[in-house]
Amino acid sequence: MVKPTDFFDAFERAALADPNAATLPDAVFRFELSGDDGGVWTLDLRKGTTSGFVTSDSGPDQDATIHVSSEDWVALTTGQLNPMRAFMGGKIRVDGDLKLAVNLPSVVNMVEGYGISVENPISAALGRARRAIAALFGPRPSVDPMPPHARGALPWLGAGRALADDPTAFFVRCRERLGDTFVVDAFGYRLFCVFSPLGVRNLWKLPEEQASKALADLTLLSHKLPLELFEGRRTLPHDLFARDDVETYLENLRNAVAFELDDLGDAGSIELFTFTKRLGHRMGLASWGGLGTLCAEELDRLIVHFEQLDASESFVHPHKAMFATATRKRRERRAMRAIEQIFIETLTKRPRLGQSDLFSRICDAWDDVPSPEREIGIARDVIVVHMGSQTNLFAAMAWTLVYALGDPSVIERLRQGDDSGLDSFSHEAIRMSQRSIVLRRVVSPIEISDEHGTYRLAPGTLVATMLSVTNRSAAPGLEHFDSDNYRGATFVRAAELPARELVTTYGHGKHTCPAHRFSTSAIRHATSELFERFELTPLFSEPQPLRRQIGGVARADRPCEVVYEARVRALNQRSEVVPKSGPASARHTRKHEAN
Ligand code: HEM
Repeated sequence: MVKPTDFFDAFERAALADPNAATLPDAVFRFELSGDDGGVWTLDLRKGTTSGFVTSDSGPDQDATIHVSSEDWVALTTGQLNPMRAFMGGKIRVDGDLKLAVNLPSVVNMVEGYGISVENPISAALGRARRAIAALFGPRPSVDPMPPHARGALPWLGAGRALADDPTAFFVRCRERLGDTFVVDAFGYRLFCVFSPLGVRNLWKLPEEQASKALADLTLLSHKLPLELFEGRRTLPHDLFARDDVETYLENLRNAVAFELDDLGDAGSIELFTFTKRLGHRMGLASWGGLGTLCAEELDRLIVHFEQLDASESFVHPHKAMFATATRKRRERRAMRAIEQIFIETLTKRPRLGQSDLFSRICDAWDDVPSPEREIGIARDVIVVHMGSQTNLFAAMAWTLVYALGDPSVIERLRQGDDSGLDSFSHEAIRMSQRSIVLRRVVSPIEISDEHGTYRLAPGTLVATMLSVTNRSAAPGLEHFDSDNYRGATFVRAAELPARELVTTYGHGKHTCPAHRFSTSAIRHATSELFERFELTPLFSEPQPLRRQIGGVARADRPCEVVYEARVRALNQRSEVVPKSGPASARHTRKHEAN
């Protein structure tokens, strides 16, 4: 059952994601809700507020106080009670500035999943447009002193067009023109960009309470995804992988790879990134979705829904995020509901097996909740974990294959049962194709230094660096692929760098990828099995990371077609006698996976 507190929690999150829109009323509202689940909440919506919008009980002095029963408040915010009728019928009473109370619908309507039905749809649409415009053209957070600045001619677009066209080249050009620390205004955001050794080192050190990664992510994701996904309790990848006991996911990974490779048959052709995308879905859903035994058709149906919720798509095709915003995320919400329904159906039919894998950890976290909230909670956890995976894993796997196909000695070693070099190989492939933009959203005023000075950043600023720039330029030779740059997961040339933070695959410090070991195991296992089973012939040459990608490991700029043929068949045709290396290679694989 919806409670008033659900709305106020959701409001805080929505306001954090878009403070300009939230503070349009420029006033403080106090809500006094009577009855069961009632209480007092204060909304601080004064201009300049960037966090702590909602306080329960006492807050700053209010401009208007709204008195209503908690039951009527829930009915109002879920569109079941007409506000005018409620007001006329004495169900709502406003003390203080009555003019401000007209802002109530727009305050409530900015929270996804809630909405006060306004009498006039035109004024509702105008209200939405007004909020959107204010958010785009509102004042930008201050940076003091102001470093060189790339702002473009149009106030909202700013430098956005050049940034979206080729972000890596854009930042490289900005560095040449403006130095290693500069400000970029684009798409209504202010980015404080650092590329110098000290600047980048200090970015990675920023404490979450002052400069938040979670909030930066939410700011971007909120354009594409239903915010309900981030509400309430969530089991996050950190909780799942904290123990990092590899055995809890290896079996699921192995089965998923076997399923998918069986589906390939004896011979055919695949596009590498399309293939690894499907494989990534299969591996992920088997690991944290409890859906390891889906047949091909069931998996395909589910993938359609997950792809609809793929936030990384908006890094590659920004118009998709715009479309999602314009349609109030209707398609995304439909996909979310479809996935929830699948979990309601499968979980209520299935007995609890007392397993101990990643999925059972998610289920355990919902043990105390009745159906169907339990299944919905589980489904949303799976969606959020899977989203983290969709951004990077499949592309990392595909680039590992792309580079391996150009190096027959790696394939040969794999077939002889030696996969020891593969982790260096995958890390180097990721280093070369990383397109992640690292972002932290300033929550309270902070100071950050580079080699030339200290800057004071106001809340709302996004501190940024882009891995594709530093990963390939921090030391001579890094512009080329060389698997000797890594020993396993360790970048061996770190001592040559002016700051070790300038090169990374899975991040540094507190926000390092929680699924690092999982991903390394997944890539190693999938790659070795593929080369073990098939002879692969590439039909592509020299693919490059997609130019316009911002965020995650890049897709390729061209199709990477590969012809495959089952090895036993290929070898028989050539009348060669090579022992099928199943047991030997399986032994080796296990040895390295346990590392
Ligand atoms: C090859 C695959 C992957 C690569 C290269 C990768 C890379 C990264 C990087 C660079 C970061 C740090 C970003 C930052 O600090 O701003 C990160 C964080 C994160 N990754 Fe991954 N990742 C991969 C796979 C995955 C998978 C499979 C999942 C989920 C199952 C995942 C979930 C996350 C999460 C939740 C964070 C945020 C951690 C935090 O905020 O503390 N990643 N990843």
